Amino acid sequence: MSGPDQYGVVGHPVAHSLSPFIHAMFARQTGQSLSYRLFDFPPESLQERIAAFFAQGGRGLNVTLPYKVAAVACAAELTRRAQQAGAVNTLAMRKDGTILGDNTDGIGLTQDLCVNQHVIVTRRRVLIIGAGGATRGVIAPLLGLEPESITIANRTADRAKALAAAFAQLGHVRGVGFRYIAEGAYDLIINATSASLTGQIPDVPMGVIGSDTFCYDMAYGKGDTPFVRWCLELGCRAAAPGWGMLVEQAAESFRLWRGVRPLTGPVLCALTAS
Ligand code: ATR
Repeated sequence: MSGPDQYGVVGHPVAHSLSPFIHAMFARQTGQSLSYRLFDFPPESLQERIAAFFAQGGRGLNVTLPYKVAAVACAAELTRRAQQAGAVNTLAMRKDGTILGDNTDGIGLTQDLCVNQHVIVTRRRVLIIGAGGATRGVIAPLLGLEPESITIANRTADRAKALAAAFAQLGHVRGVGFRYIAEGAYDLIINATSASLTGQIPDVPMGVIGSDTFCYDMAYGKGDTPFVRWCLELGCRAAAPGWGMLVEQAAESFRLWRGVRPLTGPVLCALTAS
């Protein structure tokens, strides 16, 4: 391939992805010449199409739903954080011609929480709602910040318990069903369910939210998400949707590919201003 270095995001569907906008802003800001496109590959040919992209000179891909687990098979090697997540959101062609699989979702979340939102996680009680892929990707990076404890609460309790057991060596983490969430307010609550996609709010007890609780929704959209609205109505300290995680994970992918970390503030402003 000649011309600018080729990048893109693979998903199915993927037309809604904001990644081309984000990476185009990063490229302008850092003076990099690259192209970043949408790739809607069907499930039956995912691996062949990804291999063909790289065989034709492609330099890197983001991977979004529903392919973050399937794309693991496209990588010759995984970073430790991708291994822990059991999923990749970033593939990068290395100098030796092999493909590295990485996962920047977790650091995207912790960057947004710690740097943009000024949330302290260390020695705090954390509640994560949901036990799917989104949760799996962020547990290890959150435990790395040494919270007092992480409770994973899920509608289907067994999934939460299995996930907690998988990370038990890394810190104090337990899994429960919604009805067995420990009494009292948490310091930080993260909604990692897909309930927001249908405008629903996970059926967790209201008592988990207190006046000092910071609430975070991995989902984002125009205006407040239903979860953010619900938390604010219950009098939490503050609540944020997941725009920052989206932009920070993208910045980490960009850094892996281009060796420079772009500023995320201007992109966040552009995304949330409209
Ligand atoms: P992802 O990879 O995006 O996390 P997933 O693996 O399908 O997607 O997981 C979706 C998560 O959202 C699960 O924790 C799911 O709960 P169940 O395991 O009980 O299915 C949760 N979820 C989806 N809709 C929900 C709702 N209306 N209320 C509560 N939890 C919901």
